[in-house]
Amino acid sequence: MANIVIVGTQWGDEGKGKIVDLLAENADGVVRFQGGNNAGHTLVVNGKQTICHLIPSGILQGKACYIGNGLVVDPAVLIDEIDYLQALGVDAGPAKLKISEKAHIIMPYHKRIDHAREKHKGDQKIGTTGRGIGPAYEDKATRQGIRFVDLIDGDMLAEKVRRNLVEKNFYLQNFLNDQPMDPAAVIEEYRAYAKRLAPHVTNVSAALHRDVSAGRQLLFEGAQGTHLDIDHGTYPFVTSSNTVAGNACCGAGVGPGVITDVIGIVKAYTTRVGQGPFPTELFDDTGKRIQEKGAEFGATTGRRRRCGWLDAVILQNAARLNGLTGLAITKLDVLDGLDEIRICTGYLADGRPVDHFPASLKLLSACQPVYETLPGWHADISSARSRDKLPLHARRYLERIEQLTETPIDIISVGPGRDQTIVMRNPFI
Ligand code: GDP
Ligand code: IMO
Ligand code: MG
Repeated sequence: MANIVIVGTQWGDEGKGKIVDLLAENADGVVRFQGGNNAGHTLVVNGKQTICHLIPSGILQGKACYIGNGLVVDPAVLIDEIDYLQALGVDAGPAKLKISEKAHIIMPYHKRIDHAREKHKGDQKIGTTGRGIGPAYEDKATRQGIRFVDLIDGDMLAEKVRRNLVEKNFYLQNFLNDQPMDPAAVIEEYRAYAKRLAPHVTNVSAALHRDVSAGRQLLFEGAQGTHLDIDHGTYPFVTSSNTVAGNACCGAGVGPGVITDVIGIVKAYTTRVGQGPFPTELFDDTGKRIQEKGAEFGATTGRRRRCGWLDAVILQNAARLNGLTGLAITKLDVLDGLDEIRICTGYLADGRPVDHFPASLKLLSACQPVYETLPGWHADISSARSRDKLPLHARRYLERIEQLTETPIDIISVGPGRDQTIVMRNPFI
């Protein structure tokens, strides 16, 4: 019996959705535990692409899916996603998809504040997805948040919206130079969402406890990546939740003893969307080539992703912070055809080695990557189905990643399709 946490090791978009969809075949339930619809998780099955923003990526495998208490949920987006999946013939009804009564709701004022604040910050903006994530978590922390349990209690919803909008409208008008919002319209809109989503709302922690007691296997699906974590990422250029594996327990409502494995998803190079430091970023033709071959455009906002070489310093950080038991390397095929491949094995600041991933953005911005150069390969690896069928230099690259991270590779992905995968170890079987 295994219960696996999947996390991104870099700055998001590592291919978590693909690996969750793959592993979900042998899971009984799949749980999202943090974030919101800032996430965009892409699944490709039989050549058909589906993008999940809120619903766990196990839904196409027909598994029980749970939205944990650690999420902030935009109900309109969730309803659209349910309708989209149902139209494809995928069951996302209340028997399949459960939402924690304690998950927080993204309100229209959160989205408006997110946008207006980014505009107000000008050059200092974070480059958020504009989905209201930060302002919703902010309300959770200041104890003004509206949870699903409040949403489906019509009186509580109305009372909280009216109370919150007094402060939000003042802030919107007087600080952000934006328009105020009408409480009555917000209440009416959200009452309709409550009616629609109420049958999905339950005590997810209790449901997961029943699963674990019955020996069912769970897959915990992280969103974003370790270096977007609110505590451990490149603060303030981060998201507003803990993305590390430890938060799977808190954001789903299970104890730490439940988790048996933590798989870190590693894109074979590095990408980042939005602002913030990125030591191995490439501004040359190689960066452009990776961006084009990897089709590196955001699955949520469509923004071009910044691209660079693999950074083993951040991977070592991720291995420690998440307690990784294994790695899944994705998009290895994107490196096909390069003469040389580089891996950053350390940073230098003012000519001196930096011995750990810096908390200071000033120091991180001054860091120069130290590279090791490995030979590339000139074969198309997208149809390889075993590790020993990969070209020698691809195998050497993988071995070097294992050495630098002191973590074994469990899975290698050589294309977006579910079947374009080499599985060496699957903890579920
Ligand atoms: P997530 O947010 O971590 O789930 O990742 P995204 O879905 O945002 O971005 C990953 C992108 O890479 C998606 O378009 C996937 O279909 C694609 N992808 C995943 N694995 C592979 C792979 O091994 N090779 C290639 N070429 N594409 C991949
Ligand atoms: P998945 O789960 C990549 C980034 C945004 C921005 C910062 C803060 O698909 O890997 P937010 O809207 O969360 O306040 O934005 O975090 N970001 C992501 N980048 N993948 C994601 O999710 C992301 N979710 C947020 O671009 O820099
Ligand atoms: Mg994504």
